[in-house]
Amino acid sequence: MTFEEAKAVLESNGQGHVLRFWDKLDATGQAALLAQIATLDFAAIGRMQAMLKDAGKPAAAAGTFEPAPVEAPEGDEKAVYHAKGEELLRAGKVAALLVAGGQGSRLGYDGPKGAYPIGPISDRPLFWFHARKLLGLKQTYGAPVPFYIMTSETNDAATRAVFEANDYFGLDRAGVFFFVQGMWPALDPEGKIILDKPGHIFMSPDGHGGTLAALDRSGALADMAKRGIEQVFFFQVDNPMVDIADPTFVGLNATKGADMSLKVCKKRDAHEGMGVVVIRDNTYAMVEYSELSDEQMERTNPDGSLWLAYGSPAIHMFSRAFLQAEAERPMPLHLAHKKIAMVNDAGETVKPEKPNGYKFEKFIFDVIPNAKTLLTMAFDRTQEFSPVKNAEGNDSPATTKRDLQAKWRGWLAQAGVTLPEGTPVEIDPAYALNAEQLKAKGILIG
Ligand code: UD1
Repeated sequence: MTFEEAKAVLESNGQGHVLRFWDKLDATGQAALLAQIATLDFAAIGRMQAMLKDAGKPAAAAGTFEPAPVEAPEGDEKAVYHAKGEELLRAGKVAALLVAGGQGSRLGYDGPKGAYPIGPISDRPLFWFHARKLLGLKQTYGAPVPFYIMTSETNDAATRAVFEANDYFGLDRAGVFFFVQGMWPALDPEGKIILDKPGHIFMSPDGHGGTLAALDRSGALADMAKRGIEQVFFFQVDNPMVDIADPTFVGLNATKGADMSLKVCKKRDAHEGMGVVVIRDNTYAMVEYSELSDEQMERTNPDGSLWLAYGSPAIHMFSRAFLQAEAERPMPLHLAHKKIAMVNDAGETVKPEKPNGYKFEKFIFDVIPNAKTLLTMAFDRTQEFSPVKNAEGNDSPATTKRDLQAKWRGWLAQAGVTLPEGTPVEIDPAYALNAEQLKAKGILIG
């Protein structure tokens, strides 16, 4: 893109101010700014500007809805799904899709969140636990589960470096596919693109909903098709307890011919920050925790149980065909009022004290209403969910390490080993993916 082309497209979209420091930039700075301008999607920016009209108003109420029904397969039914999932795993038709493009700002950790040390004894990173589960699956089923990892421009190089430095945690590198999500500018209340330095547009990741477009753009969807993948297991980087490609979950989605299935678990309490799956106007949807009123969160059934008892930990199954179809549709946008460092007329970067601009994101769960068949499946959170989100308190490294060890201690107890309370425990997922495998293999205590 040349300066003239950039000027023309910016001015025709009312964004000419982006070039106001042009003459003060050196050649490298000018080239970098032109490269950023070339990535701008003015159709999306137009949609963002239209949203600003309602930005000051209170968040739209989630409206009238009912909690979605929850499947809890047991006995013979569960065995059928489990067998189907195992058949697909043995045939190499299942992939794992990890979203790891987020910034981990609540945790206060600078690197990619997946590099955060979480092993209670080893300090091994979140990525290690995910990768070693995939290795365990390959050993169990004899076929690889290809690993698609979404990063963002801010952490892509650092994420790849972590995998390189650890020799891909024992995985075959040909089965690991990194792809980068899109970045979007932020807008001030007048709809103007925010510069954070004289020659630099402030950009942030386009949300985990950006996965779909990025899967397509990067060739990851085509790669899945080439490998014969039919079912895709989606998960977030922050939860080392996740049961990746759980055969029952894979088999449920496949047997029912569903476009998408979501795992759900009992919320810790009425206000836990989890989205809830609902039925609104005869259609499934996710209502994010920030959209629920206190009354909705706290409402109880006649037996005293919570009306919105189940939350979504963002563990999903997708059919590959559904991901492909959804990658071609535009997704709704969500806006957040944030403090964004901004350049002033003197060319100095100023950190605001109050929110001064809007960031925009897409959410993966906005595809839910488009699914022709969709299921939710309950699971036991003591076995599968304890994310690292905050530096302290709930969902912090301390609670995740506590919950991991309680789970492993339970596995050891099932194998007949009782450790004195407080003994640190850590199990390599490539050694045992579950209690049965641990029991079958015998136990090494080191
Ligand atoms: C999220 C879900 C919430 C769910 C909860 C369970 C949203 C909006 N909400 O909340 O419904 O109950 O997890 O733990 O997602 N990510 C990207 N790119 C981005 C933004 C995020 O890859 O641009 C990834 C992050 O790396 C992370 C995941 O998405 O793996 C979740 O992001 P986060 O911001 O931590 O979501 P929560 O607010 O915790």
